[in-house]
Amino acid sequence: MEKKRSLIDVIDEYVQSGKAKLPVMDKNSLTVQKEISKSDPDLDRIINLIKQDISLTTEVLRLANSSFYKGLESVKTVQEAVIRLGGVEVTNMVLLVCQKNAFKAQDPAIQELMNKMWLHSVGCAVGTQWLSKHYQYENLNEAFLAGLLHDVGAFFLLSIMDQIKSKNLTIPHKLIEDIVIKMHTHYGNLLLTEWSLPEQYCTIVREHHAREFDAANLLLVMIRFVDRVCQSLKIGIAENQEVDIFACEEAAILDINDITIAQLQIKIEDSLRL
Ligand SMILES: [Fe+2]
Ligand SMILES: [Fe+2]
Repeated sequence: MEKKRSLIDVIDEYVQSGKAKLPVMDKNSLTVQKEISKSDPDLDRIINLIKQDISLTTEVLRLANSSFYKGLESVKTVQEAVIRLGGVEVTNMVLLVCQKNAFKAQDPAIQELMNKMWLHSVGCAVGTQWLSKHYQYENLNEAFLAGLLHDVGAFFLLSIMDQIKSKNLTIPHKLIEDIVIKMHTHYGNLLLTEWSLPEQYCTIVREHHAREFDAANLLLVMIRFVDRVCQSLKIGIAENQEVDIFACEEAAILDINDITIAQLQIKIEDSLRL
């Protein structure tokens, strides 16, 4: 008798057969990311890369004028955006735009989960970057990208289940959520390896929920903490049981006080307006 296959078996077969469309890391986003991580980034090159792409330009200007970033005068050109916000913030915007476009679903229920995960990822990116300034973690851009990508496996799984569902296979909503919650670190690691991203991002994707983790890895600890803060603010899909952010292990490692936590929460909630 044929063994009944689980949905995970179907997903694995789908990925291994090459039938699954892997989301690609946007080329523009990678080029901008590489430029900004140089010790002396060429801002003109970044401006030109953005200007070559109409949708990127439009979105950067929209974000620069959003209530989150807005100054007194409205920003009308990419140059003005870079001057007002600085290269790091503009690069973050490029990453946001490119990553958002990489994940789209046809199924409305799956798209809704992606939207929730998107808000969670942006909250984690903004929150981790903010915390990095607080702890003088030098590479703010790396912190932002790590926050944005830490749950990339969830998007990957949702997009695969969307492709499977479009072949008229019914998958109960609860099962979709369960699989995303239980398996996203595994598939995220798979995807980042496929994208050949540096090991520090793979570690974060793999270990942000692991019971045992390297307490000396400041970026990992910050991501774990911000992830919990987002969960406590109900931003995202419920990954963890209720957690006391004031008494968790990460708070103790970071030696973070209540005022800083409150400021972080405000910063994360503000990011929802991006
Ligand atoms: Fe996660
Ligand atoms: Fe998360």
